[in-house]
Amino acid sequence: MYYASTPEMAAAATGAGAFGFIAAGFTSSRALVQDIQATRKILKVPAKDPTPIGVGLLGWILDKTEISEDPRLPAVLAERPIAVWFAFGLNLGKYVTQVREYDASREHKTFIFVIVNNVDEAIQAADGWKVDALVVQGIEAGGHGRGDAPPLLTLLPSVLAEIPLRPAVIAAGGISTGKQVAGLLTMGADGVVLGSRLLCTPECMYPEPSKEVILKSNYSCTIRSDLFDEVNQTAMWPAGINGRAIANDIIQDAKVGLNLEERLKKYRDSKVDGKLNRLVIWAGDAVGFVNNRESTKVGIGLYFEIFSN
Ligand SMILES: Cc1cc2nc3c(=O)[nH]c(=O)nc-3n(C[C@H](O)[C@H](O)[C@H](O)COP(=O)(O)O)c2cc1C
Repeated sequence: MYYASTPEMAAAATGAGAFGFIAAGFTSSRALVQDIQATRKILKVPAKDPTPIGVGLLGWILDKTEISEDPRLPAVLAERPIAVWFAFGLNLGKYVTQVREYDASREHKTFIFVIVNNVDEAIQAADGWKVDALVVQGIEAGGHGRGDAPPLLTLLPSVLAEIPLRPAVIAAGGISTGKQVAGLLTMGADGVVLGSRLLCTPECMYPEPSKEVILKSNYSCTIRSDLFDEVNQTAMWPAGINGRAIANDIIQDAKVGLNLEERLKKYRDSKVDGKLNRLVIWAGDAVGFVNNRESTKVGIGLYFEIFSN
């Protein structure tokens, strides 16, 4: 989760028995390598061992960085993370190939996750690119995804039905409770993603005002829209991708017919005045269940407890 996960969060997740990730986003290779090394330090990983976390990389950013003087992928792979996770690009297959080619000349093999938002993308990733895990992300998910993705409870069984000889299938989107996890595993998922559920943990880098808003939010407090990226000036995602965030006056401003310039002014003024009603807070519907600041370790521990009882 870019803007949200930290080395501390990734290390805490892995330390608690889950699979911690850091997100590359726009981070430089140097800073990314420092983050990966920071997780090694926290987890006290000996030099001979791989780094027991994954690194999430956005395809459309890689399209720019990998032809620049500062390519991210070789820098990340040299740190031997146990996994990489690709999402949101027009041709993620070429990065999957790049990882496989890099690994062909060494002992360490990188596990590859790819986000898919519909059955066609799942078939392409599983049968075409031969990825190790499909992250089946429903429309409920916080942050970015295809605006036309089906709900997880439709998408997951569709992918399971269409790809019988498949890689691991990981369910993502709106997951907050042990009962949801149990239901998804019963349906055939091999694992689940906890994203927004962790946004109020002390390890999450979300600013305090964003955490305050989340803690006061109710169920169904989020909406998927292009409007957040517009005012945030991050509207460079591939066509069809938009973002889910806490619904607030950013949406209301468009509803009453303000043009972009007027909306930007209101957004900036609210920021300067320290108001909470126009913050861009990427989050999925899972945050309706977030009502405390428990740590990543405690949060993840609760899920394991549910299954050991
Ligand atoms: C703040 C935030 C940042 C995210 N950043 C990324 C990212 O950098 N790369 C990515 O593949 N997915 C990203 N996602 C989406 C997650 O991978 C995941 O699909 C989502 O969090 C699952 O839904 P949930 O938030 O409802 O649990 C982000 C989600 C959030 C909430």
